[in-house]
Formats: sequence, structure tokens, C-alpha cells
Amino acid sequence: MTPPEPHAVPRLGFVGRVVLVVVPVTLAAFAWGTPARFFPELRDGLNGTVAQVAHPPADGVRLFAQHCASCHGPQGEGDGVAHLTTKARYFGAEPFKFTSTTGTRIPTDADLVATLKRGILGSSMPSFAQLRDDELAALVGHVRILTRQGLYAQLTRKALKDFDDGGDEVDPVKVTAVADAQVHVGTPLPIPAAFKPTSPQSVAAGKVVFAGSCASCHGPAGRGDGPQTVDPKFVNDNGTKAVPRNLTAGVYKGGGEKANLYARLMIGIPGTPMPAGTTLTPEQLDDLLNYVLSMSPPPAPTVVASGTK
Ligand code: HEC
Ligand code: HEC
Repeated sequence: MTPPEPHAVPRLGFVGRVVLVVVPVTLAAFAWGTPARFFPELRDGLNGTVAQVAHPPADGVRLFAQHCASCHGPQGEGDGVAHLTTKARYFGAEPFKFTSTTGTRIPTDADLVATLKRGILGSSMPSFAQLRDDELAALVGHVRILTRQGLYAQLTRKALKDFDDGGDEVDPVKVTAVADAQVHVGTPLPIPAAFKPTSPQSVAAGKVVFAGSCASCHGPAGRGDGPQTVDPKFVNDNGTKAVPRNLTAGVYKGGGEKANLYARLMIGIPGTPMPAGTTLTPEQLDDLLNYVLSMSPPPAPTVVASGTK
């Protein structure tokens, strides 16, 4: 059997080849230039498009879906697919813990940006310090929208339950008004510009305050094992078991600076049994901070080269 004849390839002469290359290139160049040439007002638009591709505007919805929804859920209801021992926050329905505000205790933008940059040590929430400032701001904006949504849903659920229990009919206007009043950023807590430096006397005085006000939960040595923790009713507002921080570990979810810890002591940690220590005097608070910080391990010793002192 003879193999079939291969198809004859038509051969182009020199002119044919030039035409084959030059014509499409000219057409493409002309098409590219035309809109801007004949419609100058388009030129800025075209350049604008190019500029936007290089720096896409920060989009809170997209960034949240990309970085946060796996834990916080697509609507911020704390129901992401990641299985976590400390559940991610259901924004609005559960309070913020790490705020520098009293009143509504809704955090400031600076509080939320600090939480995102720091991450929440001792929980699964990582640091997002790698994001740009405009991206962090966009995420904060989206968290605020979700917070309002969650608060509204929570208040509606409560109103429906009250109705089931024989209360008034649910009035969406009233629920909206309450949600609007509660979603405002709280009143900033006045934080002292300076704190008393540590000293053995201050630490000793702080230890006494701790034994009286803190040890029932945090334990006599601050290990998070105080007598209250064995009570089955020692739970967070969402029903999960409350775990006082082991203060010897030096892991602070809301930041380890004195200003951060001062806010935790004055405001408490909303949604958990950690109380607001508003009855303590400024002197006691200063000593307590020095004592709390004295419990965590000192920083690793610096290596001193031999021959130096
Ligand atoms: C790997 C899981 C995980 C990811 C990803 C994550 N979070 Fe969280 N987030 C948590 C957990 C867990 C908590 C609660 C921690 C706690 O209460 O100790 C939390 C709490 C928070 C809080 C509450 C802080 C407060 O003051 O109470 C905010 C705000 C927050 N996350 C925002 C975000 C944003 C925005 C993103 C995305 C940029 C994000 N989180 C990504 C797990 C995550
Ligand atoms: C009724 C129990 C209770 C008492 C009393 C209490 N705490 Fe706490 N504390 C807790 C719990 C629970 C947590 C952990 C909250 C959470 O889930 O993040 C906590 C957390 C903390 C943290 C960690 C803050 C952070 O950023 O991670 C510090 C610091 C702290 N407490 C100090 C104190 C001091 C000082 C006192 C005494 C003035 C005190 N606590 C009294 C229950 C208590």
C-alpha cells in the first residue's frame, strides 16, 4: 500500500511573505492607536485603566473573603470552615475583647488595625502586618459593616424570643434604632501618658493586690488555675469554657505594652468573666502592672562575647 500523498504546501513568493507580516502588524498598530487618536477624551481613560491595574483599589469585601472568611465565615458570623478551639469572633453578636473604649466598647479604627497587625497571640488568628495600610483600612471598614449586621441579627433574635415569651411584637424600627445606638465607636479610655517604673517594692505591692483581686481566677502564682475555674458555670458569654490567662507565659492577646494591659484591667475583657477593675486606685493599678509583667519569663539573655563585660 502506498502512503497518501502529503498535502501540497502553497509556497509564497517574497512579496507574499512581506504582505503576510506587514499587513497584520499595521492593522494592529492602527487599531491600538485609533481610539485615542480620534477620541482624545478616551486617552486619559485608557491610561487610567492601566494605572488601576498596577494599584487595584483596596476592596474590603474581596480582602475579607481572601484572608478572613475561612475562620470568621463569609458573613463574619464566626462560622468559617476552619475548626478552631477558640472560635473566631461573630462580629456584632459577640463583643470585641481588645478595645480601648468604654461605653459601647466598640473599638476605634486604631484598635482594630492594631489587632490585625499584631494578630491574636495564643489564638489561631495570624498577623496581617504584611497588608498595606489602605488594605487594612478597607478590612476595618468591612468589619464595621459586618458588626452592624451581626448586632442587628442578634437584637432581632432577642426580640423574637421576647415575643415568643409573651412580649411585644418585634418592631424593626426600634431594633434598628437600638442597633444604631450600640454600633458607635465607644468613648476612648483615658490612658496615662506614663506608668510607674518597676521596682521590687512596686512588684511586692502589686502581688498583694493580685492575691486579693485576681488570684481567684488566675491562681496564686498566675498560672490560670484559680479556684473559680473548677466551677462548671465558669464560662464565657457564648457558653464556651472560660480560661483565665496563664500570666507566667507572657502571651497577651491584646498586646503586652503597659497601655494595652491597663486597658484590659480598666475595661475587662468583654464576653469573658475577666472583670473591669474600676475599683482599683491608680497606685494599685501601677503596682499590679509591674507585678503582672514580673511574672512572665525575662527576655532571652544576650550572648556576651568573651573578653567583654
Ligand atoms: C485562622 C483563623 C483566623 C483568621 C484567618 C482570621 N481570624 Fe480574626 N479571629 C480569629 C479568632 C480565633 C478570634 C478570637 C480570638 C480570641 O477571642 O481569643 C478572632 C478575632 C478577631 C477579631 C476580634 C478582636 C477583638 O477585639 O475581640 C477581629 C476584629 C478579627 N478577628 C478580624 C479578622 C480579620 C479582619 C481577618 C482577616 C484579615 C481575620 N480576623 C482573620 C481567627 C481568625
Ligand atoms: C472572674 C475571673 C477573673 C478575674 C477576677 C480576673 N481575671 Fe484576668 N482573665 C480572666 C479570663 C477568663 C481571661 C481570659 C479572657 C479571654 O478569653 O481572652 C483573663 C485574661 C487576663 C489577661 C490577659 C490579657 C490579654 O491581653 O491576653 C490579663 C493580663 C489578666 N487577665 C489580668 C488580670 C488581673 C491583673 C486581674 C486582677 C485585677 C484579673 N485578671 C482578674 C478572668 C479573670
